[in-house]
Formats: sequence, structure tokens, C-alpha cells
Amino acid sequence: MLKVAILGGSGYTGSELLRLLLSHPEVKVTAITSERLAGLPVSDVFLHFRNTDLRFEPLKASELEKKADLFLLCLPHKASQETAAFFHDKGKKVIDLSADYRLKSSRVYEKWYKTPHHFKNLLKKAVYGLPELHREKIRKASIVANPGCYPTSVLLGLAPVMKKEFIDSDSIIIDSKSGTSGAGRSPAQPFMFCEVDESIKAYGIAVHRHTPEIEQELSALAGTKLNVIFTPHLVPMDRGILSTIYVRLKNKVSLSAIRSMYRDYYQDEAFVRILNNGVYPVTKAVKGSNYCDISLFLDKRSGKGHTLIVVSAIDNLIKGASGAAIQNMNILYGFDETTGLTALPLSL
Ligand SMILES: NC(=O)c1ccc[n+]([C@@H]2O[C@H](COP(=O)([O-])OP(=O)(O)OC[C@H]3O[C@@H](n4cnc5c(N)ncnc54)[C@H](OP(=O)(O)O)[C@@H]3O)[C@@H](O)[C@H]2O)c1
Repeated sequence: MLKVAILGGSGYTGSELLRLLLSHPEVKVTAITSERLAGLPVSDVFLHFRNTDLRFEPLKASELEKKADLFLLCLPHKASQETAAFFHDKGKKVIDLSADYRLKSSRVYEKWYKTPHHFKNLLKKAVYGLPELHREKIRKASIVANPGCYPTSVLLGLAPVMKKEFIDSDSIIIDSKSGTSGAGRSPAQPFMFCEVDESIKAYGIAVHRHTPEIEQELSALAGTKLNVIFTPHLVPMDRGILSTIYVRLKNKVSLSAIRSMYRDYYQDEAFVRILNNGVYPVTKAVKGSNYCDISLFLDKRSGKGHTLIVVSAIDNLIKGASGAAIQNMNILYGFDETTGLTALPLSL
């Protein structure tokens, strides 16, 4: 059995990881951390975890080192940097769910996250953990940077058409909506029930930190450096992301030809579902699952070329975080990639 430690296990992504890993046949969770709840049984804090005798413990790296082979970091950015480096130096594998190792350039990281990066060499080694794009590199990685939730919905939505000959690469506009769990479990006024309920708002316009991550990966796919316009919204749901993405096509192509491109691109992918003509993705249909649902539309009235409109839906806590981490773990250790991730969406 693979011994796994979840660091930051009291948060949304950490507790979803525990929920999924408790029924993973190849894994034993041997440690789970929380500073706030250290010493408490997990089953006392989270009533849905009746079948575990794990206790939260503080994140003391030197004590945790002996307890596990793989460290899943569900910590805020900044807190992850040093923790990831510690376990990596000890020869352990690390999957980091924070943004600390996602951006290849420390300069870009420092600009957007407004904090220094102290482990530039490790940053170079980290593999961006979107399996559908980087599976072979993930297989050999010692540190995997699990993608952000918004970037996952966007990159999967655009990857099949990201060729500079096919699209106008400077025309990409992304409008995304997320439930409040995307902001983590720590209490903050903008995410309180009365602030969020019955309301919707845009935020982070032109400054959201997922922008450089989206641009890094789309530029690599397109073979040219590009910028995107990205506007996220907060909507009154617990979980789920819906992204609507607009991109101008260089030439007129039929929708059925584009859908065939997508189906070919993702034909071997277990978790990407290309919906039939006219079917709109909904967050409820992926809730609690590792699926990304994608649908394609064509606006033929917009200028010389057509505009492709891609709509994608994921669960931010599963395909956008903990499910992706398990998919990466399965790849790293040679387990079937779908192990522990086959549950159907909750739907309601
Ligand atoms: N939420 C999402 O949809 C999502 C999606 C993709 C990626 N992510 C990323 O994944 C990471 C975790 O997100 P989350 O939503 O699970 O956050 P969260 O709910 O706020 O949980 C954060 C966890 O980190 C622990 N923690 C905080 N500061 C710490 C420190 N300095 N040292 C040790 N432990 C510390 C907290 O423990 P205590 O119990 O002591 O507070 C808690 O267990 C973040 O980097 C986030 O950006 C989140």
C-alpha cells in the first residue's frame, strides 16, 4: 500500500482528498494535518468520516517525513513553497495543490503573487499536472504542480484547437463562474452566506492570478506567446465551475468538424466528455466527479472568420483540485488512472 500524507487536511481540498482516498484500494492515508484542529479525531470534526481513526496533527515536517511516501499539499500558496522543498529534498514525492510550483518563471510568479520564490531550481523541475496535456512528464516527476481550478476548465476547453494556424490566438476571452468553495474554508466576509446568497459578482478582472497560468499553458500549446482576457465570477453555489470561452477562428470550419477534432483529441481520456450538439454543460452534472464536460457552439455572424464558443463544466474541488491530484498520483505510481475516481456525479 502506498502511504500518503495530506497536509492541510482540514480545508476543502484536503477533506475531499481524504474522502476519495479512504476508498482508494492502493492507498493508506497515514497522516493528516491541521494547525487549528491538531489533536482532534477527524471523525469528531467531520461527521461524514465515521470510518477513520485518523487524528489531525500539526505540520511538523521532520516528524511527518517517516510516515509517508507521497505528500499531498493542500496548503495556501507561500506555505507550500518550503514544505514541498523539504519533502522533495528527503526523496519523497510531492503533489502540490497550491500555485507555488505551477508557473515556470519565478519572475512571473513573483509579479502575480507578490511574494518571492525561494526555490527556483525546484520550480524548474516541477511538472504542470494536467494529465490530458502532460501525462508522460507526470509519470517521471518528483514534484507535480496540480493545476488551478479555473485553468483546468479553460485548458481542457481549448486544448484541441490551440494551433496558431487555426485560431486567432490573441482573441481569447474567458468568462468563468465559480462556487464559493473555490475560495477555501477560512472564513472571510465576501464569502459569508448573506453576501453570496441570491447574488452574483465579477471579481479579479484583468488581475486574477490564474491568468498567467492559463497563458503559460495555452502559449505552449499554440507555439506562440499569447494573452487572454479572463473574468471570473462568484456565484451562490457550494461548488462547480462553468467557463464560457470565446475564440475567433482563422477560417470557416463547420461545427461538426470541430466537434470531431475534440472527440479525436480526447478519445482516450476517461474524464473529458464532449457533449452532443446543442447540449449545454451544467455544473450539477459533474458535481462530486472528476469529469470535465465540454460543449461547442459556433457564432457565424461575427466577422470574417467564425467565433468558436466553448462551454466547460467541472467540479472545482474534484477535477479542479483533489480528483486531479489523485489522477496524478495514479499516473506517478502506475495505478490505473481512474482508480478511486469512478464515482458518478452526484447530480443533486
Ligand atoms: N478550493 C478550491 O477549489 C481549490 C482548487 C484548486 C486549488 N486550490 C488550492 O489548494 C490549496 C488548498 O485550498 P483549500 O481550498 O483546501 O484551502 P482551505 O480550505 O483554506 O484549507 C487550507 C488548509 O491549509 C492549512 N493551513 C493554512 N495555512 C497553513 C500554514 N501556514 N501551515 C500549515 N497549514 C496551513 C489549513 O489548516 P488549519 O486547519 O490549521 O487552518 C487548512 O487545512 C490552496 O493553495 C488553493 O489555492 C483550491
